[in-house]
This record gives sequence, C-alpha cells and structure tokens, in this order.
Amino acid sequence: MLAIKAVQMIFKNLLPAVTDGRSVEVREQMLLASLYAGMAFSNSSVGAVHAFAYPLGVRFHVPHGLSNSLMLPHILRFNLEAAEVTYAALGRSIHPELAAVSGKVAAKAFVDSICDLVSKMPYAQRLRDVGITQTDLAGLASDVTKIERLLVHNPKEITPEDALALYTMAF
Ligand SMILES: [Fe+2]
Repeated sequence: MLAIKAVQMIFKNLLPAVTDGRSVEVREQMLLASLYAGMAFSNSSVGAVHAFAYPLGVRFHVPHGLSNSLMLPHILRFNLEAAEVTYAALGRSIHPELAAVSGKVAAKAFVDSICDLVSKMPYAQRLRDVGITQTDLAGLASDVTKIERLLVHNPKEITPEDALALYTMAF
C-alpha cells in the first residue's frame, strides 16, 4: 500500500518538482512520497537497483539518488518478466486505464513509463556522464556481486555476467 502510494505520487510530481521547484504543493507531495517509500522499503528491503548504485557511490562518489536513477531503467527491463505481477500492479496504479489489459502489457507499460520519466530528468543519464569509463565497468560488476544483502531481494537472479552487461547498458 505504501509503495503503490509512493509510486503514484512520484510519477505525478517528480517531473514538476525538478523542472520548477517553486511549487510548495508539489514539493510537499514529493516529501510525503519519499516518506511512504521509506516506510515501504524499511519492511521489504530494496533490490538490484540499489545494489548497483552502491559501487557508483563508493568508487566515484556519485550521489545515491542519481546512482539509482542511472541504473533504474536497465534493472527494470532486466526484471520485467520475473516481476511481471508486481510491475503490472504498479502499472495499473499509475495508469488506471490499464485495468483490463493483460499483466504482460501492464507490466511493460510500467517499465516504459518509468524509463520515459527518467529520460526527462535534467541530470546525468549515463555512467559516462558522471566520470566513469569503459575500463571501470568490470570493477563495478565485481563489486556489486558482493552486495548479496540486497541482491537476494531482486526478483531475478543476477550472475556476474549479467552484472557486467547491466553496467555496460548503463554506460
Ligand atoms: Fe538505496
């Protein structure tokens, strides 16, 4: 319930909040959404997006929120089939008109919508934009496979080869 509410509020308010920060109402919605999301993942933990974000912070001092954003589209696409039920529920929560479509369609719509939102953010979109080079990718992939604490919660198992492929996609 908390996660769905957070997704709905973030989907509606994030772009307005970052493109024009003057609206107190929009920023209040984002603060509340952040609180709800935090309450949700205090119970559920987080998955691969956050795991992949950590080496970016540790090695390159990329802020954690930005690190997550850089990895989010790639991990969502990677997880799509394995997380179809969850992503379909989230898709229907932000697009009520998807109520009658199949889980596969609703899940894909969720991932497409989040990727589209991330692409509109006025900050770095790729690892190369934050000072990372192609030769760094293997080290990042090696580091992330040690973050089992979070990777165990990911809907799909991530092999060392997957880890390198995901950082390469984000590069
Ligand atoms: Fe995190």
